[in-house]
Parts: sequence; C-alpha cells; structure tokens
Amino acid sequence: MGPGVIDLRSDTVTRPTAGMLAAMSRAETGDDVYDEDPTVHALEERVAGLLGHEAALFTVSGSLANLLGVRALVGPGQELLCEAQAHVVRAELGAHATWTGVTTRTWSHPRGGVDLAAVRRLMAPDAGPYLVSTAAVAVENTHNFAGGSVQPLDDLVALRDLVEPVGIRLHLDGARIWNAHVATGTATSDYGRLFDTVAVCLSKGLGAPVGSLLAGSADAIAQARIWRKRLGAGWRQAGVLAAAGLYALDHHVERLAEDHANARTIAAAVAEADPSVVDPGTVETNIVLLDVGDRAEQLVDRARAEGILTGIVGAGVVRLITHLDLTAADAQRAAKVLAQLVR
Ligand SMILES: Cc1ncc(COP(=O)(O)O)c(C=O)c1O
Repeated sequence: MGPGVIDLRSDTVTRPTAGMLAAMSRAETGDDVYDEDPTVHALEERVAGLLGHEAALFTVSGSLANLLGVRALVGPGQELLCEAQAHVVRAELGAHATWTGVTTRTWSHPRGGVDLAAVRRLMAPDAGPYLVSTAAVAVENTHNFAGGSVQPLDDLVALRDLVEPVGIRLHLDGARIWNAHVATGTATSDYGRLFDTVAVCLSKGLGAPVGSLLAGSADAIAQARIWRKRLGAGWRQAGVLAAAGLYALDHHVERLAEDHANARTIAAAVAEADPSVVDPGTVETNIVLLDVGDRAEQLVDRARAEGILTGIVGAGVVRLITHLDLTAADAQRAAKVLAQLVR
C-alpha cells in the first residue's frame, strides 16, 4: 500500500503495531505440536474463558477454526443449516464439503440473521434412511456480507431453545464477535455460551497479523487438535503469534468503537450524497455496504484512482471496512471522496 492510500478492502490488512511487535519478540515459546508452548496455552485459556467454554485451540485462520468447529458437530453426509450469505458457505471454497463431507442448506435473511420459521421448516434432526439429517446450525455474528450486522441476543436464545431439545447443535462464526460485543455491550461469553463451538479471529478488527481460535468442550477441542494436525496445520513455536493475539485482546478490543464511528462517518456522507446507496441506520459496526448497481466497478476504479481501496462483494455491492490502521481523518477523507463519486 503506497503512502496516503486508504485501504478499506478489509480489516485484515492491518500491520502489527510497534507495541505488538515488541510483545511478540518477548514471547516465551515451546513446541505447540507437543502442546508445550506457554504463550499459546495462555491465549487458549484466556479465549476459552472469554467465550464461556472449557477449552480453545489456536489456529492459523478463521476458515480453519470454522472447519474444525463444524466438523466437531456435523458428520459426513449430515447437514449444516446457515444463512445463504454466511462465510462458511460463501467464502471457504467448499472446505466443509471437501474435507469433512458436510452438506448444507440455507435460508436467506436481509441482515444475515436467524429466520426461526425457516430453521423450523428446514430442520430434520433425525431424517431416517432416505433424507439428510440436520446435525447443526451455524450463525455468523457479526455478519460480514450482510454489512457487519449484529445478531440480536434474543434471536440466538430463541434459536438455541428451538434446536437444543431435538439434539441439533450450534456453531458460531464469531470472526468479529468483538465488534458485536463493543456495539452492544453484551459480554462475549453471553454470546459464546449459547453455542457448542465458537470460532473467533484475532487477525481482523483486533489487528493481529495471524490467528484465530476455536472454543468448545474439552472433548471437542481435543478432537479439533487431532484434525488440525491431520490437515497439516499443527505449528511449532506459535507463541510468537499467540503473543500478538494476547496483546490485541489487551489493547484493541474497546477501540473498535472508533472503527464503528469511522464507518458511520463514511456511510452518513455517502447517504447524504445519494440516499439510495446506503442507509446509515444499517451500519452497526465496522462494515459499510454501498448498493450502487451497475456503477460498482466504475466506483471501485475511480476510488482507487483517488487512493481509496474498496472491493465488490456481490452484484452491485461495494464493501468498505474500517480498521485499526485508519484514522478519523482518513475516514473523513474517504467519506468526502466516496460522496463525490456517488453523487
Ligand atoms: C465472518 C468471517 N468468518 C470467517 C472468516 C475467515 O477468516 P480467515 O480469512 O482467517 O480464514 C472471515 C474472513 O474474512 C470472515 O469474515
């Protein structure tokens, strides 16, 4: 990224801060495949606690944490239900089908949310010898392709109450659960406890260079550890990366409120220029979707020419994500440029 360029393509583009690099260089390490890395242990214990679970496993990516979490709940040939724009079905390149034989059916919701009536219609906990049995439902909070929407806690409780009695389990893709926590004040453990397995990322809003975790029961995490190694993703002195994650949890959670404010600044300016493009009321966290129809490619190209990087995430939809490496002044500049371009 050149000087002066404002990169709104993703919150994964951040660079480790000086404080984070210093923490990484001080990390005590050991061989994590032998389960001997003290910094990895510290991170796993901390995140398990934050999510209200017994244990957690440090993984290289959110996609791997999702894969291991869903695999713990859904067997080969069984199905996972989820919203149609969920990362697990749209952006993990079919990993769940490819590696663990999971099939999926989806419902659609404009905010990526839980449609209880649809889940009730779709779910088939014990479908017998001719139809696919539903083993789990996945929820994404916040929801990336629905524009960083927060899933209301009441909806998640209602989902739990619907599926638990019939033995269907729940996976949370909480890549941005920290944003949901900061936007609502709901404790991460209050979200986490409703689910059997929870994937979270440190490398998005929290600004770590690498790293995600899967949390769950001690048994689910022991199995996930075996599968992580089976998939070739056991790692050795991973404490260097775990130290970045611990630093991020100490320093970069509450500041997500700044990212949310920056996202609102951009959305408000664009909406003032053309209210049909975005409703600022829908911007709950750090993601803004601009619905620009057939102007999407032109907008991305023109914004790039002005030093603002954005991306297209669906037909006519341009996505902007605010993050740690973006100041309020950057957000104001991006807001001004994008407002001029949509006018
Ligand atoms: C909601 C959600 N889940 C999972 C992931 C996967 O994370 P990773 O890119 O670390 O595999 C992403 C990545 O953007 C995401 O937005």
